[in-house]
Amino acid sequence: MTSTPLPLADAELADLLAGRLDLVEERLRDAVAHADVLADATSRHLVNAGGKRLRPLLTLLAAQLGEGHRPEVVDAAVVVELTHLATLYHDDVMDSAPVRRGAPSAHEVWGNQVAILTGDLLFARASGIVAGLGPEAVRIQAATFERLCLGQLHETVGPPPGADPVAHYLQVLSDKTASLIATSARFGAMFAGCRPAVVDTLIVYGEKVGVAFQLADDVIDLTSDGDQTGKTPGTDLREKVPTMPALLLRERARGPQGTAADRELVALLDSDLASDEALAEAVAGLRAHPVVADTRDRAVAWAHEAVAALGTLPPGAVKDSLVSFAEALVDRAS
Ligand code: IPE
Ligand code: IPE
Ligand code: MG
Ligand code: MG
Repeated sequence: MTSTPLPLADAELADLLAGRLDLVEERLRDAVAHADVLADATSRHLVNAGGKRLRPLLTLLAAQLGEGHRPEVVDAAVVVELTHLATLYHDDVMDSAPVRRGAPSAHEVWGNQVAILTGDLLFARASGIVAGLGPEAVRIQAATFERLCLGQLHETVGPPPGADPVAHYLQVLSDKTASLIATSARFGAMFAGCRPAVVDTLIVYGEKVGVAFQLADDVIDLTSDGDQTGKTPGTDLREKVPTMPALLLRERARGPQGTAADRELVALLDSDLASDEALAEAVAGLRAHPVVADTRDRAVAWAHEAVAALGTLPPGAVKDSLVSFAEALVDRAS
């Protein structure tokens, strides 16, 4: 049996969830299978490449607040991972990311058109499974997907004139990442038959932990190497996709605190980072800047808020594990 992708406070619960994750894994492999040979190969590509399965874990963990063994809980866990997977195919096209989960990204292997269509196929499979969970689940999935697309859209177009870029970016993070993480937690509680107040608590927790997760992702992109993350460090810098450290640096460079070194680093980020040497210099420069610690502190603060939102839940192994899940999300290297 495998272990949970993040350490959880309660070992017995972690073992139980690792067993359920094996079941999710089996269902996931079935869910991406196609009779069409090309569709089969492209759809399996990222499932086979690995990934942490954090969203299904959160669904299974939240479900332990109620009747976690219900079959709908496993279906919901499969739906959130399929949805996540689909967004990864699209995201890697948008970010021109060459590597994902340690494998060449789908667009590198088959081209942009096939990669985008594969993402769509996975959304279709997720929709088929969520339909079996009933109209409320379909409505939640649709609203989640809408926020995800709007988050990616607003990241792409940037803040409107006069808007605060950091506040705009936090909204982007909530929409592109926290929306699905909140739905992962919500589905778990909902399909385990928890009371509405408990479901609401899990939504708030998921939203906050989701922002913490994406802020940590922005830091990891600079501080971890590609062997750990399965991604190419600095991809967002190269493609001029905004991240919190880069936005904080720009804010600081513009303000009274800004030093000549800050402004030079901004100029480096704005320069052509196509060569590996230029990218490595930009990553090293930003990594050494205090805005990275600032971003990490913000991630930790969001994780603390997530934990504070659990206040009304009964004490016990599940609550303790939700706390450790939030802490581990911001304390990871991949
Ligand atoms: C990557 O998510 C995309 C983001 C929202 C940051 P994960 O870090 O959960 O990716 P996998 O599933 O482990 O590959
Ligand atoms: C991914 O955001 C968000 C979605 C897939 C919706 P990023 O572009 O920041 O994630 P990584 O770093 O490529 O995994
Ligand atoms: Mg990306
Ligand atoms: Mg992206």
